[in-house]
Amino acid sequence: MVILKFFVTFADMIQTCQNYDLSARNTFALAVKCKRWVEYDSADDLPLVVGSMTAGEKWVHIGAGSNMLFLGDYDGTVVHSAVRGIDFTDADGCVLVRACSGEPMDAVVAECCRRNLWGLENLSGIPGEAGASAVQNVGAYGVEAADVIESIEAFDCERMQAVVFDPSVCGYAYRDSMFKHSPAKGRYIITAVTYRLTAAPAPHTDYPALRDLLPHTPASPAEVRAAVIAIRDSKLPDPSRVPSAGSFFKNPVVSRETYEQVCAAAGADVKVPCYETDDGVKIPAAWLIDRCGWKGTVMGNAAVWHLQPLVLTNPERKATPDEIVKLEAAIAATVRERFGVELTPEVEHV
Ligand code: EPU
Repeated sequence: MVILKFFVTFADMIQTCQNYDLSARNTFALAVKCKRWVEYDSADDLPLVVGSMTAGEKWVHIGAGSNMLFLGDYDGTVVHSAVRGIDFTDADGCVLVRACSGEPMDAVVAECCRRNLWGLENLSGIPGEAGASAVQNVGAYGVEAADVIESIEAFDCERMQAVVFDPSVCGYAYRDSMFKHSPAKGRYIITAVTYRLTAAPAPHTDYPALRDLLPHTPASPAEVRAAVIAIRDSKLPDPSRVPSAGSFFKNPVVSRETYEQVCAAAGADVKVPCYETDDGVKIPAAWLIDRCGWKGTVMGNAAVWHLQPLVLTNPERKATPDEIVKLEAAIAATVRERFGVELTPEVEHV
């Protein structure tokens, strides 16, 4: 099918395109389209971008598309920030790092490590953009973005004005924030995120896989970054070769009773891994899925990564959204039947 593309520039820095192919805009590489694509490269363009939506027009703002699953062609407008830039400011013994929303998160982390600033190094190698780090509260190897977020700049689409949030009002929790839920979802567009980092050493290397690689006190954020990247490379698919959306499911947090039920279902001789949290017992979804025998399974054009079964992939770039959804449902059903635990997707279905 021929896709008609035409670009209209309705301000200097805003690009819009009709019937736009999103396959390079979602890391699952699903061949889906949207009715209209809008990309802007200055937060000052947002009144015009948001003002261009007609009454009742369906629209969604995306980042790098690394934590989403398009369920089919998107019958509306997809908006993306191409606003780039990272600023560093000294403040009371700390360094405030302000990253614009469209800056690749790993570029921010790499630059902070290069400058010997501590705080973001455990988040090395995470796909996605800085704006999404404040929505999704990205996390890895014992650190979450919210641990170091100082403030969040956003555009309020209801009041059509810029706002600044203190992280304490943003409802941060495991892979969660108010920006993922109504009424904030769809109302605020993150335009920049400021992280509070330190020049004084502050390593977090308690996560077992990281501690194994760094049993000593690391000398620099760059050393931690190198270790994190090595661990990621050993377990996770290379995003440039194997399309995926990272962890597909969240690690479920269950009651002590449910945990005992999982232990009983696992068998007397099996130790079910778990982490105590304020809300209950967190069980690695990867472990539950692994025990159900899913590692490396191929279903149609969708597959389960052979080294980390929490990651669903589109290895040949031929999968349809439906094939991923079917695989998701099949995995969730076996975990439900075997362990009585409900898996919830981390990946947003759009
Ligand atoms: N496990 C298995 N089999 C496997 C892999 C893991 O049983 O094949 C069990 C093991 O018990 C292991 C545990 O799962 O100790 C945890 O595995 P891992 O350390 O790989 O971490 P995860 O909980 O599966 C989370 C994040 C990842 C993040 C890693 C490291 C979620 C949903 N996922 O995975 O984030 O990189 O921890 O911190 O919280 C992402 O969000 O896209 C992502 C990759």
